[in-house]
Amino acid sequence: MKVVTSVTTPLITGFVPTMGALHEGHLSLVREARKQCDHVVVSILVNPLQFAPNEDFKAYPRTLEADLALCEAAGADVVFCPDAAAIYPENFQTRVIGGELTQRYCGQTRPIFFNGVLTVVNILFGIVRPQKAFFGEKDFQQLFLIKQMVKDFWMPIEIIGMPIIRESSGLAMSSRNSYLSELQKQEATCLFQAILAVQEAVKTGERDIQALLDLARSKISLEIDYIELVSVKSLERLTGTLLEPARLLMAGYIGDKPRVRLIDNGLVTA
Ligand code: PAJ
Repeated sequence: MKVVTSVTTPLITGFVPTMGALHEGHLSLVREARKQCDHVVVSILVNPLQFAPNEDFKAYPRTLEADLALCEAAGADVVFCPDAAAIYPENFQTRVIGGELTQRYCGQTRPIFFNGVLTVVNILFGIVRPQKAFFGEKDFQQLFLIKQMVKDFWMPIEIIGMPIIRESSGLAMSSRNSYLSELQKQEATCLFQAILAVQEAVKTGERDIQALLDLARSKISLEIDYIELVSVKSLERLTGTLLEPARLLMAGYIGDKPRVRLIDNGLVTA
């Protein structure tokens, strides 16, 4: 508990939106919010609007009791876990439609995904009314699009991006990792190996983007959905020579039943 005796600035509410099945990645956001803010609100909602009919909305892991204990231990003051029906009542009508970037990279195979995310985040911002909100770089395109929405709509909210938390194997933590066997988890570390290989190649002088992408592909044994080097500033796809800070973004599929889609990314700077 923080005891506030004098008021020099308004009290700050920090917000961490999640879909639950919490792990250390989520908890790193809650702990940072605890450090920076007076009140910490976590939301848990598996948001139906961001799942296509053929996706894993029903199967998505739901571990509410464990999540509540983890939130408490990480310092949350309030956990908001509404029913989807409370967020989307029958007369619900309005949606946020993002720009063209919502249709690229992850949006190419999941065209409704980012608009569903932007809509629910907008609704949750309206309910919680935070001054600061915390998101992981694990979902780099999502973080970028939320920053863009906040800027475009002049929302008085500071968006704070936090680093990717990984298993000791290098696998990026994800609620969807619970779909994987131990063997698949081991295989999925190839995404991180691809990031390390590209970072190392750039360090030793490689600047040719095609060569870097080929190198990344050669490390990945999964079925690749996409792999791109994009500008950190604009999220535009980079081609030719690497001349600016970039993010290697990728997604791949592992397994058959279920077929699990994994994403990862890393900073690549010359
Ligand atoms: P969810 O996948 O539960 O993630 C909630 C937040 O935790 C996101 O900001 C995500 O980037 C972050 N996160 C997940 N794994 C992480 C990791 N390994 N390291 C660091 N941060 C990590 O993202 C969503 O939910 C939803 O789209 C949401 C924004 C809640 C809207 O429904």
